[in-house]
Amino acid sequence: MIVLQARRHYKPIALALLLLAVLVVVLPPLLLFPTYSPEMTTLTLPEPDVIGSMPLSTAMRDSGYSSVLSDHQMRIDEVSQLLWAVQGITHGSVFRAVPSAGATYPLELFFVQMDESELEEGYYHYIPQEHQLEWVNTTVDRGVVLSAFMGDDRTAVSSVSTVYFILANYSRTTARYGDRGIQYVNLETGHAVQNFLLQLSSLGLKTRPITQFGKVWIQNLLSTSFVPLVALPVGLGNDGASVPQARVHFCCAEENEATVEQAIMKRRSTRDYINGTIPFTVIADILNDSSSIEYLDTDSSILDVRVVAGQVDGLGPGSYNYWLVNGSFTELSTLDLRGDLMTAGLSQPWIEDAQLDLVISVDMGWVNAEPDSSYAHRVAMISIGMMAQNICLKGAAYGLGTVTVGAFYEDQVATVVDLPGGFKPIYIMPIGLTSEFVG
Ligand SMILES: Cc1cc2nc3c(=O)[nH]c(=O)nc-3n(C[C@H](O)[C@H](O)[C@H](O)COP(=O)(O)O)c2cc1C
Repeated sequence: MIVLQARRHYKPIALALLLLAVLVVVLPPLLLFPTYSPEMTTLTLPEPDVIGSMPLSTAMRDSGYSSVLSDHQMRIDEVSQLLWAVQGITHGSVFRAVPSAGATYPLELFFVQMDESELEEGYYHYIPQEHQLEWVNTTVDRGVVLSAFMGDDRTAVSSVSTVYFILANYSRTTARYGDRGIQYVNLETGHAVQNFLLQLSSLGLKTRPITQFGKVWIQNLLSTSFVPLVALPVGLGNDGASVPQARVHFCCAEENEATVEQAIMKRRSTRDYINGTIPFTVIADILNDSSSIEYLDTDSSILDVRVVAGQVDGLGPGSYNYWLVNGSFTELSTLDLRGDLMTAGLSQPWIEDAQLDLVISVDMGWVNAEPDSSYAHRVAMISIGMMAQNICLKGAAYGLGTVTVGAFYEDQVATVVDLPGGFKPIYIMPIGLTSEFVG
């Protein structure tokens, strides 16, 4: 009897609580993101400029990064150029500006246009195959966009009219590679971010890449279930201070060098190499320019770069530590380890055929000590992807062949190059001679 009476009292309270929950949780998102379907229009973008004018090494040292931004109303040709550099089709009908594990292409590019310019307000989705945009004609409330960001990131977003987003559909890659596919997608994101920065630099524009923001908020804003990974507000740079320091430039007159766009066009995974040697100055130049990246929430101390040399003129066969802090090399072994590395690399022949291989590794001690180790791993992979993209482009500019190898036995690779405890190899990067070499 007592129990029944108690239930009678609880029922109205429970109903009131339920009503309150509905009001607090369900109503605000409905008001902010109305469920009507706004109109979608397809727009064809102008052809990208695949010649360009800024030498690749200038863009690498200048960087498209600025922590503080001011507004620039993007023109349609700038939008076209930027999207092409990040995900555009550059060879055949499928292959894109950045490498992709198994050509699974998990990345999607969106942007929001918060003020009307040559582009009308709304949000846009890039279709690489047709070099087109899907435009959803809707009012973009700046306040709603800003709510997804904090601190200086919010200030940067509040200063511009256009914010780009790189999103991922992980299942496209995990369907083929299982959980390792997550690492592959995060690496690929780094490749895309780096092309974004280089192309921005060539356009005279800047961004502040943001990796921590309200993901669900942005998914609601863009009406998508893809996972937003990086937000890139675009504008003019306002501070010189955070541009990475230019370092010693080893060789090659800039006027003879490939531009950003030419290097993007030339880059493709190359697995056939010819016999001969590569000068050490070229390898030093590639590593020197490629390692000036803008680390996102990390720094160079979490990475380890090994050079496994076989046929490098001026650098004897052996393995070397490449120090990211000052660009110097330390000899670790005088054995040609390319064959052993190939065996550890699932016997992929291009690892042994290349004149040299790079092994890029991450300090898992740092990753695991971070409060959110899955986030730490992701930003580390993005940084490695950024550096690897630079190496691919710089290699392409020299007419060298490169390929980013992500599939191998990690323990065996760590043993071959004698990695310090706690470091995990992420990429093996063969660099090999082709008939197009310009040294
Ligand atoms: C994360 C990642 C892992 C990759 N792993 C390998 C690999 O183990 N072996 C290989 O030959 N290519 C590998 N690739 C290269 C892709 O196969 C290549 O990018 C894709 O086929 C598209 O061709 P493209 O790079 O010429 O545009 C990898 C690429 C990425 C981004």
